[in-house]
Amino acid sequence: MANFPERVFSGVQPTGNLHLGNYLGAIVKFVELQRSHECLYCVVDLHAITVPQKPAELKASIRELTAAYIACGVDPAAHVIFNQSQVSGHAELAWVFNCVARIGWLNRMTQFKEKAGKDRENASVGLYAYPCLMAADILLYKATHVPVGEDQKQHIELARDVAQKFNLDFSESIAANGFGDQFFPLPEPLIQGPATRVMSLRDGSKKMSKSDPSDYSRINLSDEPDAIAQKVRKAKTDPEPLPSEVEGLAGRPEADNLVGIFAALSGRAKAQVLQEFGGAQFSAFKTALADLAVDRLAPIGVEMRRLSADPAYIDGVLVDGAARARKIADETMKAVKDVLGFVR
Ligand code: TYM
Repeated sequence: MANFPERVFSGVQPTGNLHLGNYLGAIVKFVELQRSHECLYCVVDLHAITVPQKPAELKASIRELTAAYIACGVDPAAHVIFNQSQVSGHAELAWVFNCVARIGWLNRMTQFKEKAGKDRENASVGLYAYPCLMAADILLYKATHVPVGEDQKQHIELARDVAQKFNLDFSESIAANGFGDQFFPLPEPLIQGPATRVMSLRDGSKKMSKSDPSDYSRINLSDEPDAIAQKVRKAKTDPEPLPSEVEGLAGRPEADNLVGIFAALSGRAKAQVLQEFGGAQFSAFKTALADLAVDRLAPIGVEMRRLSADPAYIDGVLVDGAARARKIADETMKAVKDVLGFVR
């Protein structure tokens, strides 16, 4: 088995309404991993166009997400922040992976089923092939670790399957070209902590999502402090006081969600939060949660607005990041072409 140096890759779609789920499920981990790993964080604009986008809004969302990465604490000098469309290797490798992955694998993807809904015939081919592009994002950099929320687990598993099939299908050529016995690593999802699946504040059975028509269902990273506090206060709960043990959260999705959010924002486990708040009414807990959320999130909103006022700086970060990403990507693509037998 080949040994690959550890490298982190992850991405977020620039589709507006960046929310607490994106932050706790993914971006907080992006920030932590910078201390121990070489990291690439991508604004996945090619993924965004799998559903219709208005060009002017897409451009604004790409810049807003870049500002959010930086405002949350990703360091664009020490690590790489870039947008996917500036590195052509993503689309190229995705095509190769379209030819490696099997239709049966994609047919099992639950996110496609959810997003395409009943009108599947009318969904874009891109939405269907989306997981192959995601596999390309990760494997273009031979990334070994991928921090994501729970909802992306199946896509990372598909990326592992693609890597494994490529390694196997082309094993002779991989060896003949001097790449040993494994061309791609099998990337590992990093899905940890108390908030890997943050739920809607209006309905504990639905994921917090950018596309929920109710703005009260989510806390946006760009929300002002008043809005953050009000959304917490209005969050759906049940009539019982909080339990003292984690087991007591079973069957209480709204309580479980708010406790998970509190735990993640305060860097504690749910059990520790319940030690403090067990027996408390929601009114008291929500006051503490609103204060915590405002403390943690309001400065991010302020910094996002400050950075967004300087699009030239943001665009510079993306151009510089893309140049650094391209260095790695071009090497991989040359090697992939050799393995496939393409003349270059
Ligand atoms: P996206 O843009 O939908 O979401 C970005 C990240 O946020 C996480 N997330 C959540 N985590 C917890 N609770 C929630 N309610 C919640 N909602 C979203 C997602 O799990 C994700 O980590 N396909 C990806 C983007 C992507 C990607 C990649 C990720 C493209 N290429 C390569 C990793 C590696 C997506 O649509 O994420």
